[in-house]
Amino acid sequence: MTDRAFYVTTPIYYISGTPHIGHAYTTIAADILARTARAWDGDARSLTGTDEHGQKVAQAAEAAGKTPQAYVDELAPKWKALAPAFDAQFSDFIRTTEPRHRVACLALFEKMRANGDVYEGTYEGWYCTNDETFWPEAKLVDGRCPNPECRREVQWLSEKNWFFKLSAYTDKLIAHFKAKPEFLRPQSVYNEMMRTLEGGLEDLSISRSTIDWGIPLPGGGVLYVWFDALINYITALGYPADTALMARYWPGMHLIGKEIARFHTLIWPAMLWSAGLAEPTRVFAHGWLLTDGEKMSKSQGNVVDPFNLVDQFGADAVRYFLFREAPFGSDFSISFEKLRLRHNADLGNDLGNLLRRSLAMLAKYRNSLVPAASESQLGERFADIGAQVHEHVMAMRFREGLDTIWELITALNREIDERKPWDLYKHEKGVELDALLYDLCEGLRFTAILLFPFMPSKATEMWRQLGLAGAPDVPWQEQLVWGALASNTQTAPAEALFPRLEPPAA
Ligand code: ME8
Ligand code: MG
Repeated sequence: MTDRAFYVTTPIYYISGTPHIGHAYTTIAADILARTARAWDGDARSLTGTDEHGQKVAQAAEAAGKTPQAYVDELAPKWKALAPAFDAQFSDFIRTTEPRHRVACLALFEKMRANGDVYEGTYEGWYCTNDETFWPEAKLVDGRCPNPECRREVQWLSEKNWFFKLSAYTDKLIAHFKAKPEFLRPQSVYNEMMRTLEGGLEDLSISRSTIDWGIPLPGGGVLYVWFDALINYITALGYPADTALMARYWPGMHLIGKEIARFHTLIWPAMLWSAGLAEPTRVFAHGWLLTDGEKMSKSQGNVVDPFNLVDQFGADAVRYFLFREAPFGSDFSISFEKLRLRHNADLGNDLGNLLRRSLAMLAKYRNSLVPAASESQLGERFADIGAQVHEHVMAMRFREGLDTIWELITALNREIDERKPWDLYKHEKGVELDALLYDLCEGLRFTAILLFPFMPSKATEMWRQLGLAGAPDVPWQEQLVWGALASNTQTAPAEALFPRLEPPAA
């Protein structure tokens, strides 16, 4: 274990929204990362949660005839159910209405104020409630919110507020972006943020005096909801009291959708610096899931229900599809037909049939007992596969990680087709047959271990069929050694891993 352990977060989702497959996308990515980091290094922490303050929530609660607190308490369970539905495990789930978050926000605010970065002033400007964002007059489009997905009416605000001297951090941010291009990936989002920085940053109003649903400030008013929301990432590490947790896991990395890169890569690092803390190690701003070419979003009414998708295809097939279909930085469309085809071809044929054929031959020729290990070309070829997959995943190249695992699956299938175990058996070539059957079982053990972060429950089912105890959540560097599978391991009868899905009746 290293001194500083891995820490990955998802955005905290707006509680008044509806969980859709776009939210599940980030949530699953964080789970894949945390599981891979844990398998490699032993310790990794992950965080997700809900963003519960702000005018949008207050208005929705009012429309529903409820207090904001009662309203958010009712909504929280449906967000808490999102990660488990996809077998995604998180170390913590944070709600911004929790007392621990109030403590962290006020501590950070006071620290920034003590450092001279917070001042009182009058805010006048346009506010979009849907985006919870202030917009300068010049940015408005036909007098409306400039975000192309929103374009709602904006409100004129004139209030006495607290301001953060964000403008003072412009040069430091530019220097940071130049020194560490890997801080923000992919390149397209980096370029966009660099252009914003070069245009200069304005000070940020960080409180609201006319609404009361938020973290109350001494002297009146509440924190601006984005200022409050960003702090969640350190609240969950016990800031300010739990210095041991902070020392172990901060700085961590953030996974976000590209539309909120400005908050995470311009405002948040400056807030942290102002309070004497380190900026996040990395921010990855992934692409959007689209429906008919448009970003899937609640306000567009074009969302795919994640729970329904799990019912139809199973969590693991959806997890696999999302990260095999497109690179993590790109936009792409989710289609039920493409999902079904990948389920049947990649998962059912390539992987499921490999497992079934291998175990069936082992049953027929060797009473389901794994033979002894011997010299293996496959073992040499795939000696570094753990390091390769780990490197791809840590660099957010999930797709290349899966491609690498599929090279092993393809190689194992080819061994069967070329070395024809049924002929070896018929011609009593026992030594060759043992060597081949061992390689198949060992290759499948490798596959289960490597697939575990991507498909935890199917990988565990493979593990069981291979006659292994527990789950394939084993340390990679120790266990991905060709030949480690014990001879005489008793395998289970083969069962279909991904039973074929037929197209919906026309
Ligand atoms: O922005 N494709 O919350 P939010 C891919 N509360 N990912 C998508 C997506 C899509 N079509 N739609 C949503 C907020 N996401 C704030 C965040 S963080 C301190 C505060 C995912 O409910 C993606 O991760 O609008 C995106 O950034 C996030 O959900 C936005 O969720
Ligand atoms: Mg949004």
